[in-house]
Amino acid sequence: MLISLYNSNICLINTKTESYEVSEIIELIKKVPKAELHLHIEGSLEPELMFGLAKRNKIKIPFRSVDEIKTAYNFHNLQSFLDIYYQGAKVLISEQDFFDLTWAYLLKSKEDNVVHTEIFFDPQTHTDRGIKFDLVINGIHRAILKAEKELGISSKIIMCFLRHLDEQSAFKTLDQALTHKDKIIGVGLDSSEVGYPPSKFERVFNKAMEEGFLTVAHAGEEGPPEYIWEALDLLKVKRIDHGVRCLEDEKLVQRLKDDQIPLTVCPLSNVKLCIFKKLKDHNLKKLLNKGLIAMVNSDDPAYFGGYLNTNLIECQMALNLTKEDIKRLVINSFRSSFLSEDEKKKWIDQINYLV
Ligand code: HPA
Ligand code: ZN
Repeated sequence: MLISLYNSNICLINTKTESYEVSEIIELIKKVPKAELHLHIEGSLEPELMFGLAKRNKIKIPFRSVDEIKTAYNFHNLQSFLDIYYQGAKVLISEQDFFDLTWAYLLKSKEDNVVHTEIFFDPQTHTDRGIKFDLVINGIHRAILKAEKELGISSKIIMCFLRHLDEQSAFKTLDQALTHKDKIIGVGLDSSEVGYPPSKFERVFNKAMEEGFLTVAHAGEEGPPEYIWEALDLLKVKRIDHGVRCLEDEKLVQRLKDDQIPLTVCPLSNVKLCIFKKLKDHNLKKLLNKGLIAMVNSDDPAYFGGYLNTNLIECQMALNLTKEDIKRLVINSFRSSFLSEDEKKKWIDQINYLV
């Protein structure tokens, strides 16, 4: 009896200590300045805004309520998500709609203490419906200028090609981007991965690089490590988006380390799309322990259950991330960003001061 009481006391003390430390780490996650490098602006379309825009633009959507939308967000793979995501994007019609969408994301970023964002947009999702490229980019750009002034958040814009569409469509999209070079820092590759290898877009990416765009690509989310090799060797990417399947290939891990190629990991997205069964099974910590430059991002927060802080907090709890892990993740995000070296240093110095 005495022994068991003694034991349970010890247990209580341990629990107290642990819970104190966890809450301290969570506070740190909330207050530390952060950068987000993997965010699809169309994936930040919250159900409430979807309804509002559908009404404003007199567009029929196949849902009767916000609750009905939320129950539809049960995905079994990337494609099952994309089918709903492209459906949702149909409510976006005017420049004001793209402004409102982006502004709403930037307000959420402010709440999370995100001070720098690199935003993906998918022009073909809109131009294929007859929406003008210029209107899309101008709406997004107007919102990021306002956020720079009013919220103190800096942003870059990355234009993604849809890999399920053909090379000709990507070339046409690149052409449309040329008059907006001042607003777009780079090009990326997204949408259905398996069956659409990066090699399909080698010529488009070459042209984009000649025009001065930086390159990134989604690879190794559902697709095999070979797609990551192709993104590195053929598309000359500065970062791999997702990349979680790299651990299946030791030589690839070495290459990513040698070339210091960051992985923009999206943990809640990976669980929602069944890349990992549970967050506890996610390989984020393994990636860090291998010495890879990984960081946490929200991908499509309106569809996957949370913005950047929620991703970090849920990862902390599921994977027992330490203060040092969190510090590394947030430093990695600034280090991997397309900010100038001076700007990177400014934020990293602040993090070092805080943590
Ligand atoms: N993967 C590929 N394409 C996408 C994603 C993603 O996670 N989100 C939006 N488009
Ligand atoms: Zn993505």
